[in-house]
Amino acid sequence: MSFESSSDNVNISVEQWLKLAKAAEISFTKAYAPYSDFRVGAAALTTDNKIVQGCNVENASYGLTVCAERNCITQGVINNETDDTVKFSAIVIYTEQEKLTPPCGACRQVISEFFPPQSHVMAVNHLNEQKTWTVEQLLPDAFTPDSLFNKTN
Ligand code: THU
Repeated sequence: MSFESSSDNVNISVEQWLKLAKAAEISFTKAYAPYSDFRVGAAALTTDNKIVQGCNVENASYGLTVCAERNCITQGVINNETDDTVKFSAIVIYTEQEKLTPPCGACRQVISEFFPPQSHVMAVNHLNEQKTWTVEQLLPDAFTPDSLFNKTN
């Protein structure tokens, strides 16, 4: 079984990017970040063309904080209507920071589980700035489901 397939659709239209950016901005307004005051919104497109959203949710026990990207992916998993594992084709991260926010290390690992290596992650901000990476650029040689399926014992 292979995690990657030739049907992976990693190129999405400008219109879809704009919709994702808007959805990520709306998610940002829902962020629960009373401790850091660093609010983050995310929106991702599933391969069955649904937009899912997430925001960061902090906790008084700080280490239990969950990032916007991982909450967003969880939302996609919950909403998935097929028996197959849900997959995504793009994700946008929205913050109101002058310096664009890239996904943290933990989120890069979780993104690598569900997104094709050539799919894109875009950071945007309130100044309409943007930066885009492929998933593979963010986490080269990732440990993915394929790493487990290829085990020899
Ligand atoms: N955070 C995210 O939600 N996504 C990122 O990619 C970076 C960090 C959150 C976690 C925490 O609530 C706040 O930003 C400050 O680290």
